[in-house]
Amino acid sequence: MYPIVRNRRLRQNAAIRALVQEHQLSVNDFLVPLFVEEGQGVKEEILSMPGQYRYSLDELPKELAELNDLGLKAVLLFAKTPQSVKDNKGTEAYNPNGLMQRAIKAIKSAQPELLVFTDVALDPYSVYGHDGIVEGGKILNDPTIEVLCKMSVSHADAGADFVAPSDMMDGRVLRIREALDQAGYPDVGILSYAAKYASAHYGPFRDALDSAPAALKDIPTDKKTYQMDPANRKEAIKEALMDQDEGADILMVKPGMPYLDIVRELNHVTDLPIAVYHVSGEYAMVKAAAAKGWIDEQAVVMEQLMSFKRAGASIIATYFAKDAARLLI
Ligand code: PBG
Repeated sequence: MYPIVRNRRLRQNAAIRALVQEHQLSVNDFLVPLFVEEGQGVKEEILSMPGQYRYSLDELPKELAELNDLGLKAVLLFAKTPQSVKDNKGTEAYNPNGLMQRAIKAIKSAQPELLVFTDVALDPYSVYGHDGIVEGGKILNDPTIEVLCKMSVSHADAGADFVAPSDMMDGRVLRIREALDQAGYPDVGILSYAAKYASAHYGPFRDALDSAPAALKDIPTDKKTYQMDPANRKEAIKEALMDQDEGADILMVKPGMPYLDIVRELNHVTDLPIAVYHVSGEYAMVKAAAAKGWIDEQAVVMEQLMSFKRAGASIIATYFAKDAARLLI
């Protein structure tokens, strides 16, 4: 008790602060989201995500070499599907020559050591922008899982190290695990978006992939029947434990900062590594405030990333990975 205890003794200079620091960030923590699109020589900036780009496959080697030089070891891959190949059933999602499959191969041939995590959900392939097949105004669960399984196996065929189902259909982790095993891929892992909320923070991402739910009559305009209610905490535990039982290797919480309590909570109930997704809307907010000169971007970013470590995340998917790595190496 004061005056015997003075907490400021451990804060009085940088050396003592470093010695008592409880958490550290490193380049080993980051998963780098990477967007690809069709074309040649394309490096197109995403309007609502300044500093983030969609790359055509021929532009990838340069970008990947940069990631490698920064010590970044894993990418989370998203493909912008041309409108002409979208349908309701996500058929393009498992086309062996689809953009995603070609991108995986391109990455593995340019940087074989780089871990490739692939997003698994139908929204970039769906005419309706939904993560599953739509029928009678509903997003069908079990028929969607069949497509997700084919999609996952096609990613494994192309060389993916981990598939990352982000769709929130019930039971998909078990079925994907079985499909991968049956196809001869027992070592391809599953990072499950276990607690994924129906968040307003995904807007810029949907711009990036042109994958927002369609504004059509009789089609739900939001994802609330499959993504979680932001009001719920116990439900996140239920989702996470189910995905663990079904064979998930890593559990992800998404978005990040508004859901730090969930990251913390999951750490209490599972021994699986926890990942957190610092999503596009979080990125856009920091960038916008920084552009106005209202915040110190670098300091805010590092503080936000540290908050994920403090909450207990071991993997951070963030659009700031390169910026943070530059400061950390
Ligand atoms: C696809 C998917 C989304 C994100 C990752 N995978 C969008 C969504 O669910 O609508 C969002 C990522 C971000 O906002 O950075 N299901």
